Amino acid sequence: MSCSVTLKNLSYQNGGNILCRNIDLNITHKEKIAIIGPNGCGKTTLLNIIAGLQDKSSGTLEIFHNEIKSQDDYGPFRDMVGYLFQNSDNQFLSPVVIDDVAFSLLSSGISRDEALLKSRMILKDLGILHLENKIVYNLSGGEKKLVALAGVLVTEPKLMLLDEPTSGLDYKMQIRLVEILKDIDKSIIIVSHQKEFIDSIVDKIYEITPDGLVLV
Ligand SMILES: Nc1ncnc2c1ncn2[C@@H]1O[C@H](COP(=O)(O)OP(=O)(O)O)[C@@H](O)[C@H]1O
Ligand SMILES: [Mg+2]
Repeated sequence: MSCSVTLKNLSYQNGGNILCRNIDLNITHKEKIAIIGPNGCGKTTLLNIIAGLQDKSSGTLEIFHNEIKSQDDYGPFRDMVGYLFQNSDNQFLSPVVIDDVAFSLLSSGISRDEALLKSRMILKDLGILHLENKIVYNLSGGEKKLVALAGVLVTEPKLMLLDEPTSGLDYKMQIRLVEILKDIDKSIIIVSHQKEFIDSIVDKIYEITPDGLVLV
């Protein structure tokens, strides 16, 4: 069985206190799971650990069958993991939509024409090609979220980490985003406190507790 992420007896902390312990989780190739729990329970922290942005306290983290002992071990896998932050403003790398979406492709060395072509295809797939020349900071919350998602998808990650993707969006945009996420054929971890929106996207839902993950 090919696994994208394996956590074994993981524990982690923020500000010196252990937040969660005994976290065991296996995400197989193209499996979609959600992790739910109230505000402040440690969802974003767990995603940061899986993304190699924060250290665990103890236990094992494996990404694509490779053990990550410290953030330095993450190097070869960074390009394979796409992270959609809760606050889209933290995600943008360039003020104009098309430049933002193309940014990581351009820095990977492919030609400008190819990067723009690929970025436009993603914008078209998400139904937001008309936004390509807009300034990201002037967009609505939902438009920002879709632009940020385009910037993640364009890098063709094998694993996607989505932090509260539907929060702060109006109902219509939440439904639209859910339809888009349902169609993405990749391993996905969605973190949310809104169970009703993720039910139709994921194969499994876990609730985070101080003593581990519980299948809902
Ligand atoms: N950088 C930090 N330093 C210290 N404590 C933090 C930091 N970031 C978050 N926390 C605390 O850790 C807990 C978990 O935060 P977080 O993972 O953001 O929870 P969630 O995403 O479930 O709302 C919260 O109590 C929060 O206040
Ligand atoms: Mg959070």
